[in-house]
Amino acid sequence: MLHIASLNLGTRVVSAPLSGISDRPTRNIWRQMGCDLVYTEMVSADGLVHNRKKSLDLLDIDGEQPPVIVQLFGARPNTLAEAARIVQDFGAAAVDLNMGCPAKKVVRNNGGAALLRDLPLATRIVRQMRKAIIVPFTAKLRSGWNHDSVVVREMVNMLQDEGIDAICLHPRTAIQRFGGKANWALIGEVKALASVPIIGNGDIRTPHDALRMLQQTRCDGVMIGRAAVGNPWLLRDAIRLVADPDYARAFAVSPVSLRERLEVLYAHGQQMVRHKGEARAMKEIRKHSIAYVRDFPNAKVLRARLMKPTTFDEFARLIYSKCLFFDPGEP
Ligand SMILES: Cc1cc2nc3c(=O)[nH]c(=O)nc-3n(C[C@H](O)[C@H](O)[C@H](O)COP(=O)(O)O)c2cc1C
Repeated sequence: MLHIASLNLGTRVVSAPLSGISDRPTRNIWRQMGCDLVYTEMVSADGLVHNRKKSLDLLDIDGEQPPVIVQLFGARPNTLAEAARIVQDFGAAAVDLNMGCPAKKVVRNNGGAALLRDLPLATRIVRQMRKAIIVPFTAKLRSGWNHDSVVVREMVNMLQDEGIDAICLHPRTAIQRFGGKANWALIGEVKALASVPIIGNGDIRTPHDALRMLQQTRCDGVMIGRAAVGNPWLLRDAIRLVADPDYARAFAVSPVSLRERLEVLYAHGQQMVRHKGEARAMKEIRKHSIAYVRDFPNAKVLRARLMKPTTFDEFARLIYSKCLFFDPGEP
């Protein structure tokens, strides 16, 4: 089990912060699959402190069954500390500092992965945020800015000295973005030198990958991002396999029928409407819809049709008609 300061989790598998994806409806679906710990999308500390609607909307955690970690990005120590306090007051179970985002709009303001190029600034930020909050405080980072500056070891030492409660590592450099392979060996190295829990992340695509990362690196927990989009069953199956490799091995990769996928997509759409209103929900569900039927044989036409609904009624009718006709595996 994974323990992050006062947070005691029932599983060692967590879902990733994904900008544009890990909104409240999606977090709810992931939770229903057994995920014990979920992250918000990254939220701008400046936006929160200046009451910007876009940032405040991302802080949609009121009444959400804990634990949810709110992830902040920014580059100004005072602003990040103030934002961390705001997030704590909103009821976040923990606050996470983004030290890995390579997006231009984030790094050109010295936030995200740019912090990996500035140890003194990163230190000031972590120190002030730590002083500002009593809830658990975590950081999520990449291995460094580029191949020639893999600074993760120094960063981990600094984070620990400043009182961080857990560290998540996606072992790619910022310049790599998503190219090449995540260097899992580095997760193992960091785990060996760290005294706080280490969550490994990067390229987990199957339940067996999750188990393999835990076994190879001895990390405390694993985080799944891209592969869980449209496939929340991956989280469920990884949680089961990791909890009991012997018992669950046979069941962990049971294929999910198209009917089941569409039923969960329907529930996801319902949640979207509840939290975002119909018009916005029907737009935002599209990227999930494509992912839910990704890799499914004969789903090309269905994928195209799932892009069309502008009302929930149309969406629901489409899903139910397809549930009846499209699944070759159904009795
Ligand atoms: C669309 C997208 C959005 C992301 N948004 C965030 C984010 O807001 N905060 C963050 O720390 N990482 C973010 N990431 C990185 C993921 O959390 C994760 O570290 C990365 O995708 C590697 O894990 P994976 O191979 O399981 O996807 C994002 C990645 C993607 C693809």
